[in-house]
Amino acid sequence: MTVRSLAGKVVVITGGGRGIGAATARMLVDDGACVAIGDVDGELAARTAGQLGGQAIGLPLNVIDHAGFTAFLDKVEQQLGPIDVLINNAGIMPLANLDEESDEATARIIAVNLSAVIHGTREAVRRMKPRGSGHIVNIASMAGKLGVPGGATYCATKHGVVGLSEAVHLELRGTGVDVSCVMPTIVRTELSAGLKDTRMSAMIEAEDVARAIVEVLRKPRFDVYVPKYLGPVTNITRVFPRRLTELIGRLGGADRALSTGVHSPERAAYEARAAASAPAASAPDPERQTTASAPDPERIEA
Ligand SMILES: NC(=O)c1ccc[n+]([C@@H]2O[C@H](COP(=O)([O-])OP(=O)(O)OC[C@H]3O[C@@H](n4cnc5c(N)ncnc54)[C@H](O)[C@@H]3O)[C@@H](O)[C@H]2O)c1
Repeated sequence: MTVRSLAGKVVVITGGGRGIGAATARMLVDDGACVAIGDVDGELAARTAGQLGGQAIGLPLNVIDHAGFTAFLDKVEQQLGPIDVLINNAGIMPLANLDEESDEATARIIAVNLSAVIHGTREAVRRMKPRGSGHIVNIASMAGKLGVPGGATYCATKHGVVGLSEAVHLELRGTGVDVSCVMPTIVRTELSAGLKDTRMSAMIEAEDVARAIVEVLRKPRFDVYVPKYLGPVTNITRVFPRRLTELIGRLGGADRALSTGVHSPERAAYEARAAASAPAASAPDPERQTTASAPDPERIEA
């Protein structure tokens, strides 16, 4: 397989203001790509893009506002040209046991992590298929391959992203449009603030995920586990009886990955920010939300 050049490619990254998205944007700009960052924090998107130099723009985007998401993609195409790559990266991870999670928090997690990824993927297919080229990269998680206590709805959405990506990948066979699904373990970003390493879930860096994304854009394949060894490990443990897999998870601490440190002050600050992505029905105007401040942490139920 020939290695693709990323020079001049138009790449859109949702939620690219910080974390994995920003690290990916940085590497892609260094490789000569034209990168459009969309983020619910529009000022951060613009600032991050400005710091990258090269060809990068940052625009406000709330992915749960589907019409606004479509308009954002139109705007990028007007400014940079047809989109070669869409990276559906925006995501939130409010944590709580399911019986303690509010309906509002559940709706918000599904809206950002799943419904918006379905919308973005459909928009990308509609734009890329007629051109016979393009690459859709959906950022799922290892939480899309296994259930982890303390993040049931998050796991449900990430399993949804894996299933969506698998199906669309098959729908697009022979069209020239590639689909990849990225499944990182816990990554040291604001999303994982306060969480602690466990033996089986040592944290990796945003740059590790960014490198894996750049690699798959150069040489397309579907499954992208980060670190890579998680692919074979996932496949092997699938054939074990469930009780054995659960025992290994308990002994290695994998089942505590989303609950150790969940009540720390660092976590509270993240939970407040994540709660600013409101459910679609009450989504604020994307132009106005760039200056919206995070809600009072006392009032956050997630
Ligand atoms: N950090 C981890 O441990 C980890 C592990 C596996 C997968 N992931 C996934 O990677 C992706 C990026 O996560 P991260 O760790 O960089 O998180 P992060 O919180 O550091 O960055 C996410 C960005 O998304 C933006 N965002 C949130 N809601 C949005 C919305 N409605 N519209 C547009 N932008 C929005 C935020 O403002 C933020 O800049 C997510 O999909 C996450 O689920 C993260």
